[in-house]
Amino acid sequence: MPGSPPELPIVVLDALMPTSQRLVLNRRGSMVWQVESHRGHYAVKVGYPIEATAEWAAQPWTALAPAREGAVLLRLGLTDLAYGEWEHGTWNFQPWHEGPDLYRLWEPCRRPGSSIEPDIGVALGCVEALAELHAKGWAHDDVQPAHFIIGPERTRLIDLALALARG
Ligand SMILES: Nc1ncnc2c1ncn2[C@@H]1O[C@H](COP(=O)(O)OP(=O)(O)OP(=O)(O)O)[C@@H](O)[C@H]1O
Ligand SMILES: [Mg+2]
Repeated sequence: MPGSPPELPIVVLDALMPTSQRLVLNRRGSMVWQVESHRGHYAVKVGYPIEATAEWAAQPWTALAPAREGAVLLRLGLTDLAYGEWEHGTWNFQPWHEGPDLYRLWEPCRRPGSSIEPDIGVALGCVEALAELHAKGWAHDDVQPAHFIIGPERTRLIDLALALARG
């Protein structure tokens, strides 16, 4: 793992048989891939532990995050997903949501001197996505602009690895 080029675990390759795959990110104990397959279009999340450094203690929980997220998504009623273990941790795949995230979408509004006004309708879509989760009895616990994907039809709230059932 450390030092070797990132690869999808064999168990995920077997499950999805990708026709194309692209590494979206690999940082802080988490890899995200965009995968096309005959089964559909998926985000694949692969977790691994963060080793200790001189400045940081080890973070073994990042290896467990994808399986935890998979279990949360199942409990929320999603069926088009799977999760499991690989050599260094856990993985999940879930439907790929098209669109920019809120952080990226509003980047032009944050530029110094910018007169571009943020679209309030976009904020409403984010509120609706969060309210929908709350209505199901869950708290997200890691709400941030990068976790809202502004799709053409509706806004999706992603990264439910830390979500908690309330009550
Ligand atoms: N279902 C999805 N559809 C589309 N893109 C996704 C999806 N899930 C994750 N991504 C992409 O991967 C990025 C990281 O996803 P996520 O926040 O779920 O992972 P993470 O392990 O928490 O990473 P980070 O530490 O950066 O927060 C997102 O910002 C988004 O670009
Ligand atoms: Mg995240």
